[in-house]
Order: sequence, then C-alpha cells, then structure tokens
Amino acid sequence: MKALILSGGKGTRLRPLTYTGAKQLVPVANKPILWYCIESIVAAGVKDIGIVISPETGDEVKNKTGNGDRFGANIEYILQSQPAGLAHAVKISQPFLGNDPFIMFLGDNLIELPLLTFLTDFIQKQLDALILLKQVANPSAFGVAQVDEHGKVIKLVEKPKDPQSNLALVGVYFFQSSIHEAIAQITPSARGELEITDAIQKLIDTNKAVNASEIGGWWLDTGKKDDILSANQIILDTRLTSQMLGEVDVGSQVSGRIQIGAGSKIINCKIRGPVIIGENCYLENAYIGPYSSISDRVTIINTELEHSVILNDTKIMDIQQRIVDSLIGQRVSMTVSPKRPQALRFLVGDDSQLEIM
Ligand code: TTP
Repeated sequence: MKALILSGGKGTRLRPLTYTGAKQLVPVANKPILWYCIESIVAAGVKDIGIVISPETGDEVKNKTGNGDRFGANIEYILQSQPAGLAHAVKISQPFLGNDPFIMFLGDNLIELPLLTFLTDFIQKQLDALILLKQVANPSAFGVAQVDEHGKVIKLVEKPKDPQSNLALVGVYFFQSSIHEAIAQITPSARGELEITDAIQKLIDTNKAVNASEIGGWWLDTGKKDDILSANQIILDTRLTSQMLGEVDVGSQVSGRIQIGAGSKIINCKIRGPVIIGENCYLENAYIGPYSSISDRVTIINTELEHSVILNDTKIMDIQQRIVDSLIGQRVSMTVSPKRPQALRFLVGDDSQLEIM
C-alpha cells in the first residue's frame, strides 16, 4: 500500500497568497495543511508516500516537508509540469506507484476521521476503488455521486448544474492499480483537465467494484480564505492543548486554551483562547481573541485581532479597529491611522505593506 498526495495545482482561489507560496503550506493552527494529510496517512500505517508538486511551489513544499523522517515516513517528490488534472497527477506518478494499491489524498483537504476503517474496508472487500462522500448544502460546487442502497457507486458527475444527490466527493480516494488502465482511456474534459471522476466512471462502466462510504465528522476543503479560517477554528477547538514556553508578563491576562512558543514575549496583552502563538513573537498592548493562529516571529503592537490567521514574520502595529476574519500572509507590514469606526477584514498576500490613512 502506498499513498499519493496531490500538492501541485494553481490555487487560483487563494490568490494573492498562492502567487508566492503553496496553498498546501498555509498553516492551520500553525501547522501546514499538507502535514495533517501526511500524519493521517502515517496513522493508517502507510509509510511510502509520493507528493505531487508543481514547478512553481515544489521547492518550497520539499524544503519545508523533507524526506519524511519527521513523520516516520518515506517521502518521494513527483514533479507535475503543469496542473493538467487529478487523473494526470496519478498518471505521471505511475513509476512511483507501480502496481500497488494506494490512497490518493488532495493536499488541501482535511478530514476528522481516521483513514484506517476505510482502508480496511477497501482491502477486505477487494474493491477497485473506494470513494468517500459527505452530504453538502451546495453539491453543484463539487464532484457529486449517485450511490445504490448497497453503497455501490452508479454515477459520478463533476460540478453538476442539476445535482442528483447532495453527496460530494471528499478529496480522499482508495485505488487499485486498475485505475491506471481507466486513466489511459479518458480524454481531457471541457476545462482541459484529465478528471479523476471520469476515470472512476470508466471503472464503473467496465463493471469494476467501486464503492462509496459516507463520512461522519468534519471535512474541510481549504481552497479559499474562509475555508482556511473554518479549518483553523475547528482544529483549535478540537486539538489545541495549552502550553506556555514563552514569557507572559504580570500585566497580561490570559484565559482559555493557549499555546505560546519558545522565545515569544507577551507584554500587557489580553489573550482569550483558543489561541496559538508561534516562536519568537512579540506582542505588546494587544488583544488576541478566540480562534487566532499567529505564526513564528510575528510582531503585534497596539492592535486587537480575533478569528484570524497571521503568517510568519508579519508586523501589525497601531491598528485602531479590531481585525476580524482575516488571513494575512508572510512578512506583511500593516499600520493604520487615524481612528476609524468599522472593523477591518483582510486577505493579504506575502510581502504586502498596508497603511490605511
Ligand atoms: P484543486 O483545488 O481542485 O485545484 P487548484 O489547487 O489548482 O486550485 P484552484 O481551483 O483554486 O485553482 O486541487 C486539489 C488538490 O490537488 C490541490 O492540493 C492541488 C492538487 N492538484 C495537483 O496536484 N495537480 C493538478 O493537476 C490539480 C488540478 C490539482
């Protein structure tokens, strides 16, 4: 058994952040989304992992994630020269996958439940493919499946205008090597991509065993800013444990679950958890409200902020209004004057400078 994580793609929906960085490395509770995928694969006992990367962000993904030692896995990187579709990513990974069955995991997806039960089901039932489904309110935005009463998949449609069910395909799939023959038979879709849904439909049409399992718990597809903020909220809610490695002065008030990394200094601040603050941060006269994640080496002075994700090396100073529901990139410098009444809501890319006058 192997695993393939798809960490290439264009990430257009998360621009401007994805002009300069990989969306799979955007941190949720200060950990890259991609790392949650790796950890859940390793937890299911699968150690040989291929990660598909793009020419634009591949080096960043490689340098940050390494050869797998930190996860107890062996990681190989597979360069996809252009984002030609999920099935294309599988096709170019064939030398790595060989004839092994594999888990395919979209590197921007997070699911709550462990993979092992699904993996066991896939192996025991000797399926050609097992897909995971989740009921959604807006199926037209997803790949949608029609399933019979035994869990057998009858039909898959990519982003249907008139959806026949509310069951969306979650970005985790289990495949036998028969998927490679199916991919060899499909052609690019109207949007010019080799679609994994077309390849799975090919398996169904040739009477291969394709089942679906509806998953419980949460599923997050972190393609857009608000998805990242929701993922951040859920992970902080469910997985954050308190830890104080930095210094908090006597003038500060801290309540709820809070993690503060080594070398960070908190002076005269009010912090209400759940909140995570990375290493070597400097916070002075600041209010940090629930569901905030602040990465390493961030400075926040005279500013109120909540329900936001701030990437590393950013400086936010003298903002009179509360910053809410914001995703702010790396090395950003922000300052605002004079006082204005409204809240501020941002999606700010790396290296930006904001002065609101
Ligand atoms: P998507 O989110 O469907 O595509 P994208 O990353 O290009 O984003 P957007 O739609 O905002 O432009 O991709 C799902 C995952 O699969 C994501 O982690 C990127 C990865 N991927 C590849 O590795 N290769 C590909 O050819 C494609 C299309 C996606």
